[in-house]
Amino acid sequence: MPCFVVATPQRTYEAVVERGVLARAAEFVPARAGRLFVLTTEDVWRLHGARLRLGRDAEMLFFPGGEERKRLAEVETLAEEMVVRGGDRSSLLVAFGGGIVNDLGGFLAAVFMRGIPVIQAPTTLLAQVDAGVGGKTGVNLVAGKNLVGAFHQPLAALIDPSVLETLPEREYRAGLFEVLKCGIIRSPALFALLVERRDQVLARAPDILEQMIAASVRIKAEVVSADERESGLRRILNFGHTIGHALEAETGYARFLHGEAVGFGMRAAVHLAERTGCLPSGEAAEIRRAIDLYGPIPPLEGVAAEALARRLRSDKKTIQGRVHFVLPERIGQVRVVPDIDEALVRAAIAEALG
Ligand code: GLY
Repeated sequence: MPCFVVATPQRTYEAVVERGVLARAAEFVPARAGRLFVLTTEDVWRLHGARLRLGRDAEMLFFPGGEERKRLAEVETLAEEMVVRGGDRSSLLVAFGGGIVNDLGGFLAAVFMRGIPVIQAPTTLLAQVDAGVGGKTGVNLVAGKNLVGAFHQPLAALIDPSVLETLPEREYRAGLFEVLKCGIIRSPALFALLVERRDQVLARAPDILEQMIAASVRIKAEVVSADERESGLRRILNFGHTIGHALEAETGYARFLHGEAVGFGMRAAVHLAERTGCLPSGEAAEIRRAIDLYGPIPPLEGVAAEALARRLRSDKKTIQGRVHFVLPERIGQVRVVPDIDEALVRAAIAEALG
């Protein structure tokens, strides 16, 4: 089963894509680790808790879930709880859940006692191909998504595709938008797989599932290894995220799953790429068709292009007032374009809103 090395200045570790890897989680816990904590949700624990074998007792921390609860206040509550339960600088946290648990748990580990190790055990497709690998952690502010956070690389990312069998259809499809993103930014082969094997992809055929998770994690590992802190290449992973984050924040993190917002953001970015002459119309149409294959994105009624454009100014990818967009040049290749005329951006968003 594939295992990808993520080599960053902070840490070198493995992202293991393997059915049953959670059963050998104990192998990734250092012998010197003190108290173990598992951050998860009631649902994930009920469905998959028995799969996770740490080889030792662990203190359970339950998080109610929900992007709207991925806030600093939750980090404080959980940190207090860890102290009460004997957490100290030798403790280790396992973030066992979807992207919200991975982001929040990673951040909790980054700041608890000024930093304890974390093992990421992502349980949704979206988290397996994105949030669980690469060390980005954080929480939301009212002002925007993930505006408080830290780079905190895990000791390992344990990616067990078998947990996806119970993933609700909507969440699975939302995760597929992140997989599609990987294809568009860096892999025509992955893009082709999603377009040509839609039925097997939607049926979660085990070989296809493993193939697309492995292809996505390979890309993530390569990109993060080249640029841990997003000073260059890593920006390409934000394709669809600039406008996607604006949509999530504008709708109070309650109407769209992250992957769905990324689907919408990719659609808008493709319109923008076409309007700026970056992407030929034929390929733009191909990408839009691929996005539609895994839709529909929930209804966008009441969302105004102007409001999303305003939100972009407080996105953390905005540097000195300049919004940076990741735009496709062709399938499998994107470039980062700074400072696009705001009227063009508004028009592209309006076009994507339909
Ligand atoms: N989700 C984008 C990144 O990890 O850089």
